Amino acid sequence: MKIMQAIIFVIAAICAHSVTAELQCKLPAVEIPKRWITMAEPCTLKMRAQVQEELNAALTYMAMGAHFSRDTVNRPGFAKMFFESASEEREHAIKIISYLLMRGELTSDISTLIRNPEPLHERWDTGFEALTDALNLESNVTSKIRDIITVCENPSKEEDAFNDYHLVDYLSGDFLEEQYKGQKDLAHKLSILGKMLDNYGALGEFLFDKKLLYGELF
Ligand SMILES: *[C@@H]1O[C@H](CO)[C@@H](O)[C@H](O)[C@H]1NC(C)=O
Ligand SMILES: [Fe+2]
Repeated sequence: MKIMQAIIFVIAAICAHSVTAELQCKLPAVEIPKRWITMAEPCTLKMRAQVQEELNAALTYMAMGAHFSRDTVNRPGFAKMFFESASEEREHAIKIISYLLMRGELTSDISTLIRNPEPLHERWDTGFEALTDALNLESNVTSKIRDIITVCENPSKEEDAFNDYHLVDYLSGDFLEEQYKGQKDLAHKLSILGKMLDNYGALGEFLFDKKLLYGELF
């Protein structure tokens, strides 16, 4: 009797084994060296946080685009400009994610990388107010990027920590350049709109919006 039980047990074990072997393929974990992953943790954390900053900016511009599209507001030039800015901010988030990937730093899950972003506001009383918000938003983003640079240049006192030249160069040359140009552009637009409002009152915003729509403002 004992022998019969043993045989049945062995047969059952073999069946169970072949079934699981057929249904799922369990490969051993692959050993990949980690020496190429060299970003210092404080620097990585700053970069991860910047993904969220860019998404917050994207959502704020998205809200501005939607606000100026409303039939009661109807400023298609402002709407077009802000929707384009929203796309650019989304691209910035993707660029930072790609950079983290290139440096081997996109291993942990993304739940801490992308949370629910919230726009700054959902309505703006005038185009001037939205442009002012946009310029302040960009100034805030610029200072966040400078913070990342400071941290990544001198990430910690640890022995293997080093000045992350490549990342610092990428942020200074690519991101800061775009920030400075964008800020100048918004400041110039505010200057033109301000003068038009002084001279033409409410008509100024209407005319400015048409200029924005047809790409006639520089
Ligand atoms: C910019 O940052 C300041 C200080 O953190 C904050 O009070 C302000 O709301 C931010 N402005 C924009 C437009 O994001
Ligand atoms: Fe950005």
